[in-house]
Amino acid sequence: MPSYVITGVSGFLGFEFLRQISEDQSNTVVGLVRDKVATDKKVSEQLGGRCNVHILQADMTDYDSVQKAVADTAKISGGSVDYLIANAAYVPQWDLYDPIDVLANKPQELEEEMLKSFKVNVVGNVHLFHLFMPLILKGQVKKVVAISSGTADLEPMRQFDMTLSSAYVISKAAMNAAVGKFSAQYRKEGVLFISICPGMVEPEASHYANATPEQLKALEEFLARFKQYAPHYTGPARREDAVRDVIGVWEKASIENGDAGAFVSHLGNKQWL
Ligand SMILES: NC(=O)c1ccc[n+]([C@@H]2O[C@H](COP(=O)([O-])OP(=O)(O)OC[C@H]3O[C@@H](n4cnc5c(N)ncnc54)[C@H](OP(=O)(O)O)[C@@H]3O)[C@@H](O)[C@H]2O)c1
Repeated sequence: MPSYVITGVSGFLGFEFLRQISEDQSNTVVGLVRDKVATDKKVSEQLGGRCNVHILQADMTDYDSVQKAVADTAKISGGSVDYLIANAAYVPQWDLYDPIDVLANKPQELEEEMLKSFKVNVVGNVHLFHLFMPLILKGQVKKVVAISSGTADLEPMRQFDMTLSSAYVISKAAMNAAVGKFSAQYRKEGVLFISICPGMVEPEASHYANATPEQLKALEEFLARFKQYAPHYTGPARREDAVRDVIGVWEKASIENGDAGAFVSHLGNKQWL
């Protein structure tokens, strides 16, 4: 009976992780969210109230709430966790359309957005990994997966001048480093830590709803660089395919294969599209 803990299951990809993994009744799936009432309702309406799904309240910026979620998870799972999936993230809209100089001309907002991104995406995950470690060490599988972004890879960033989403990207690069540090410490105890990017996923229609024509033009120019990076690229993936790909990558990954601490794509390598 494998057990999973997944953060951010109220969101776009998180809910799909929850849906696919809980399809198998032998999996126990604990989802961590900020709004338990709303997510319980969504689970009941869209998944028909699967009895192997358990929703717990936790905010990644509230250490005590994560600590309580660990204690509650232990009661549900019998004291161990096989897979910890760090999917929750602060994904700012603020930095989506402008290069770093434009953002830096608004110093107070820049500071607030960068610190918020860092607090949720980096510090929040460090607390999450640390607090869940006793349960992971008691698990059979011992896999900790951080959902990352290929935009945080320095190679395409520098080769194709990828200018946008600076606060988010910088926080994801730091999160990958945190995953590397946990791997460095826990590999010898058999825990696989890995960062996996789901690829570019077709967003919900509302995602760019508030964008101005200029912002959409900036985004279009940015996305054109994706075409330069990967001429074969035809467009974003459906979220069910992206999530299936990511699960496939973590299933294949192992310490023995040299994957400890790695940062890879939905293809299991450094090809991000
Ligand atoms: N979608 C893509 O194309 C794409 C591409 C590359 C990487 N990713 C990564 O995939 C993951 C999921 O992204 P998504 O597209 O599904 O984004 P999303 O819909 O914005 O979901 C983000 C999730 O994180 C949760 N969250 C945010 N701040 C939190 C906090 N302080 N404490 C607890 N939970 C918090 C949100 O909860 P609330 O519902 O409470 O706000 C939500 O469930 C992220 O790590 C993202 O960086 C996505």
